[in-house]
Amino acid sequence: MKAIVHHEYGSPDVLKLEEVQKPTPADNQLLIKVHAVSINRSDWEGLTGKPLYARIGGLIKPNNKIPGSDIAGRVEAVGKDVKQFKPGDEVFGLMLNYGGGFAEYACKSERALALKPAGLTFEEAAAIPQAAFIALQGIREKGQVQPGQKVLINGAGGGAGTFAIQLAKLAGAEVTGVDNAEKLELMQSLGADHVIDYTKEDFTKNGQQYDLILDVIAHRSVFAYQRALAPKGTYFFVGGSVAILFQILFLSPLIRRITGKNIKLLAVQTDPKDLVYITELIESGKVVPVIDKRYSLSETAEALRYLGEGHAKGKIVITVEPDNKG
Ligand SMILES: NC(=O)c1ccc[n+]([C@@H]2O[C@H](COP(=O)([O-])OP(=O)(O)OC[C@H]3O[C@@H](n4cnc5c(N)ncnc54)[C@H](OP(=O)(O)O)[C@@H]3O)[C@@H](O)[C@H]2O)c1
Repeated sequence: MKAIVHHEYGSPDVLKLEEVQKPTPADNQLLIKVHAVSINRSDWEGLTGKPLYARIGGLIKPNNKIPGSDIAGRVEAVGKDVKQFKPGDEVFGLMLNYGGGFAEYACKSERALALKPAGLTFEEAAAIPQAAFIALQGIREKGQVQPGQKVLINGAGGGAGTFAIQLAKLAGAEVTGVDNAEKLELMQSLGADHVIDYTKEDFTKNGQQYDLILDVIAHRSVFAYQRALAPKGTYFFVGGSVAILFQILFLSPLIRRITGKNIKLLAVQTDPKDLVYITELIESGKVVPVIDKRYSLSETAEALRYLGEGHAKGKIVITVEPDNKG
């Protein structure tokens, strides 16, 4: 089968379209013919090897040679222990090792996988998993946003952020989206009440305070974050600098004791019920998956470059196999 492979960390130039062995499902796995796969910042991090947490499992060379974590496709075969899916099912989900998706076929377990609703295209379904897991847990399950609360989403114009704005608005919050100037209009169109261009304004220095901050791209100190939190407010680190991650691990208990503010790492869970919940919101028109651009599998390097250069609004999707059923 054809797959996008990288044997070293680096720029999108190190990605090659190669002929590789088609995977064979283990007893607990499904073999999925991939129709679409979306790009996440985790793919960019896994490609470049930065931040350092992206090298877990491969300090010098990538362990996951085929990137790509969010797939949608049709089940071709199932291992003997697979209970919930059968050949022919249309499914979508998250590759749990954050790799293997930029390929014509992928093997994965039943975890973090759901049936694709007929009303969604493979591209729309592929745009959902990782971004929606982050947004749902940050805003709803762990964030427990209440009507009237002030919520700030840092990196709100990207994959997780565009879902998070919409979920926070649905919860009745007053939402501030932070991203670059190219994405301000998009954030407003999704319901953000206030938008901030991160190249012009530092949200931790403008005197505002928020009940919840969901940060997909953290690079400020924990002291700056606590300043931007309202009393009893919560800050969630989703991704960003490893130095900040360590600050959170070591300093946040002290900050909580002194100020009552919570600064935490959001460890994203992958419950398939979240996939069902978000697709219901999408099918009812309450949430829209934002797809900026579509590329073919052979254009994956270009697609990743577009994200890495800071242009991607919402999600970027790779169409691996156009769906002939329409
Ligand atoms: N904690 C967990 O369990 C877990 C699980 C999965 C993934 N993750 C992490 O979750 C993150 C998910 O991000 P995503 O896929 O939503 O990324 P994304 O689509 O790339 O969105 C990130 C957005 O942040 C913007 N941005 C860049 N620098 C910024 C800054 N200084 N201030 C504000 N915004 C900035 C980006 O804009 P530009 O275009 O300007 O760069 C982009 O629009 C990744 O870091 C990934 O590692 C965490």
